[in-house]
Amino acid sequence: MDTISVIGGNQLNGSIPISGAKNCALKLMCAALLTDGTLSLENNPNSLRDINSQVELLEYLGCAIKRENSSMTINASNIKAYTAPYDIVRKMRGSILVLGPLLTRFGQAKVSLPGGCAIGGRPIDMHIKALEEMGATIKLSEGYINATAPIGGLIGAKILFPKVSVGATENLMMAATLANGQTVLSNAAKEPEIIDLGECLIKMGAKISGLGTDTIRIEGVKHLSGTTHSVVPDRIEAGTYIIAAGMCGGTLRLENARIEHLSAALGLLSQSGIEVEQEGNDIIVHRDIGRLQGVDIMTEPYPGFPTDLQAQFMAMLTLCEGAGMVTETIFENRFMHVPELCRMGADISVQGNSAIVRGVNKLRGAEVMATDLRASVALVLAGLVAEGETIVSRIYHLERGYEDIVGKLGNVGANISRVSGRLQL
Ligand code: UD1
Repeated sequence: MDTISVIGGNQLNGSIPISGAKNCALKLMCAALLTDGTLSLENNPNSLRDINSQVELLEYLGCAIKRENSSMTINASNIKAYTAPYDIVRKMRGSILVLGPLLTRFGQAKVSLPGGCAIGGRPIDMHIKALEEMGATIKLSEGYINATAPIGGLIGAKILFPKVSVGATENLMMAATLANGQTVLSNAAKEPEIIDLGECLIKMGAKISGLGTDTIRIEGVKHLSGTTHSVVPDRIEAGTYIIAAGMCGGTLRLENARIEHLSAALGLLSQSGIEVEQEGNDIIVHRDIGRLQGVDIMTEPYPGFPTDLQAQFMAMLTLCEGAGMVTETIFENRFMHVPELCRMGADISVQGNSAIVRGVNKLRGAEVMATDLRASVALVLAGLVAEGETIVSRIYHLERGYEDIVGKLGNVGANISRVSGRLQL
């Protein structure tokens, strides 16, 4: 199995192109199921493993898909199956997002309970309950969700989510586009990826208002059409490279990235000593020599600090002056990078959903492995500043969410390479 080798100590200088957001692209691809027209996506992160899994699933259902560079076209005029099988769905949680579109357009869907990163239980009860409120009959059996819509289709409803959920908001927003009457989603998620999905659905003919607020209103229509849409830049990829530049020092230009999508992180980065600014379509990040300061972070739904940047921020805190507290409020069990960072010399103690990170003078390279996507990238970041060589195994996690991370970091000065065939840890 391949590993990634990182030899720490280099500054980062130059440009990194930021890809389209994985967490939006996966949902936009599911939106193609809502129409017999062709959906053309631009700036799609086509080389990611999660995108491959979604392609596999949509092709299994009968979609015709073409990919070229960062473009993808999807046509769902010839759907042959309404079942999303375990073998495909287990690889990635984003596949649960076929449920709403299949159910609302075809009146039936059978979807395996999802897999994805091992960061806690990650139930889907809110998706199911909300679809039931729209009139669906849902039975769980043998690991599958079996859903049917009433004759005549799903019925608009007032849905109050008991907690903010990105996936449930997206699934229900898509289901509501073709339902009868109005659906109101309260306590909806406000992530930029949801706004982007909503804007694409509007271009397809959906009637949606309130995107970016906690109340989204959808007036059901009879039919949606194909359209062309460019995927919003990946704020988590951009945030990861901002942190990389902060840790290593130097100046990076992150091409095609939006600073306004990272506002909660920016204040903390600046308190810590990292300068970040927008220049046209790019983000410029700069740090001089000198130690960063420890700061406290707490993950929250958008616009709060993103849970998907928590592990990377913690890697940065390991070398800061003083201490920082990291509190994770979105997922239980999202500190699996901690033991690996400690093996590299970090001083971190975890109590419940908080971790105290006391800055140390240096990290040392080690053989490490991670159990989820963002934890894996945190180990790469730690490797960039550690003394000696860090070998990160199980890199398929990284390939789920970071396009060409070795090339992108290598081009700006990191000593990083992919090594074939090393012994898997
Ligand atoms: C999405 C992102 C993931 C990100 C997360 C939070 C994708 C593919 N993944 O995941 O990278 O970390 O948002 O920003 O876009 N919950 C329930 N019941 C449900 C649904 C969720 O209890 O039916 C809980 C979850 O366990 C979690 C919280 O709600 O504690 C938020 O999860 P949610 O926003 O739904 O995350 P995902 O959409 O799975």
